[in-house]
Order: sequence, then structure tokens, then C-alpha cells
Amino acid sequence: MNTIAAKNLHSLRTLTFNIFRYDPKRPEVKPRMDSYQLEEADAMTLFIALNELRETQDPTLQFDFVCRAGICGSSGMLINGVPKLACRVLTKDLPATISLAPLPGFELIGDLSVNTGKWMRGMSERLETWIHTSEQEPDFHKIEQPMEPELSEKLYELERCVECGVCFSACGTAQMRPNFAGAVGLNQMARFQLDPRDERTDADFYEVIGDENGVFGCMTLLGCDDLCPKELPLAQQIAYMRRKMAKTRKGLF
Ligand code: SF4
Ligand code: FES
Repeated sequence: MNTIAAKNLHSLRTLTFNIFRYDPKRPEVKPRMDSYQLEEADAMTLFIALNELRETQDPTLQFDFVCRAGICGSSGMLINGVPKLACRVLTKDLPATISLAPLPGFELIGDLSVNTGKWMRGMSERLETWIHTSEQEPDFHKIEQPMEPELSEKLYELERCVECGVCFSACGTAQMRPNFAGAVGLNQMARFQLDPRDERTDADFYEVIGDENGVFGCMTLLGCDDLCPKELPLAQQIAYMRRKMAKTRKGLF
């Protein structure tokens, strides 16, 4: 065995996982933390660890993973109290005792699994996060509207959100206001405000996000910006939309 392999083996630990357990379909069983031990493996992610725990120790453990690569946005959870995508976290970067809990702010499905999709859909319907155009029927034969490469890059940058919910769980306002648009929603509004195909005016955007559930609810704690796994410029987008909306308010009243 070479020196590097031997060194790696020596640094592998016995991990203790303290995992939140609760099934909302069985309210008679109170929420609890269950403890499991697992031998760490080389390059082990929390995805690998949780699957091994489920396969070898507890088949009832509920959690979500699809892509395992930070793309589908389904593996968000609180890892030692911090919201992150579990598929992208290596156990070697964590202490030997790891606590796992579901993302706060979303409907609990069971244990570590939450319904981010339901919240994202509600947010999208409230904010109408799609291109608004006066065109009645889309004409599929029409040549696509050209766009400056610089602008399309800006739009692409904001489109990289995977709707994981990490920013919402990391947000103080979101925990107090269930209808808060969150960084995810405000980022989407900034994306459509930039898009020349969207015919909404700033006053139209103000109608939707010009209040405490929108840009003026943000307390600038910046948990969203610190923790977004896609490193989206969330603080910048919220500040941009807030300035726009404050200016619009001056013009309206
Ligand atoms: S903005 Fe970032 S943290 Fe928030 S949902 Fe999108 S990818 Fe996740
Ligand atoms: S499993 Fe898809 S983002 Fe983690």
C-alpha cells in the first residue's frame, strides 16, 4: 500500500449520525432524533452515507436525492444546523458527529424529506414567474427575437437556480413570513424584469413584490447569498430590485 492510501485509511473515522425522525402521517409518534454509527469511507458524501444507513441499518429512513450532483435541487437539508445540498457535502469536511434535519420553511414529507416543489409552485403562481406578452397565441413559425449576447448571458446566469430551497431555509424573514418571495423568488423577478420579451412595467412588478412579502421584507442578513450552492449573486439581485421598486413607489405615490 502506498503512503497516501495508508494515510487516507488512517484518517477514516467512525461517524455518528443524529437524524431527525418524524412522519406527519403518524402524528401519534412524536418527533425524535435517532442515532446511527457508520464507518467512514474514502470520498464519502452524505448521499453515500445516508444510502448506506438506509440499506444496512434502517429501511424506513426518508430523504431525497435524484441527481447526486447538485443539479436537481432535491437534497437540501440542515447539516449541523446549516442548510446545504447533502449530495455535495463530503463527510471528511464534517466533524465525526453529524446532525441532520429537514429544511425549515417547507412542508415536511417525512424525516429529512420536504416538499420544496409545492412551495416553489405556489411562489411561481403568486409572482407569475413567466414571460408576460400581449401576443395571444404563440406563433411557432416566427423567427426568434434576437438578443444581445451580453444580455442573454445575464439571463442565463440568473436561470442557474435549481430551486433547492436552501436560500429560503437560510432566511430570517422567510421563517417569519410564509408568503415571503425569498431570494429564489426575487431572483426570478429580477430575471423577468431584465428580459425584453416580458412586457410588464416596473409598476406591474411593484404590484407583486413591492411590499413586505417582496423586496421590502428582506432584512439583508445575507444567509441566502452565503449559502446558495449555485453561487448566484442573490444579494446583488435583491438590492437591484429593491432600488427599482423604491424608485417606482416614488413615482406612484
Ligand atoms: S437561489 Fe440558490 S439557494 Fe436559492 S433555490 Fe436557487 S439555487 Fe437554491
Ligand atoms: S441530489 Fe440533486 S441536488 Fe443533490
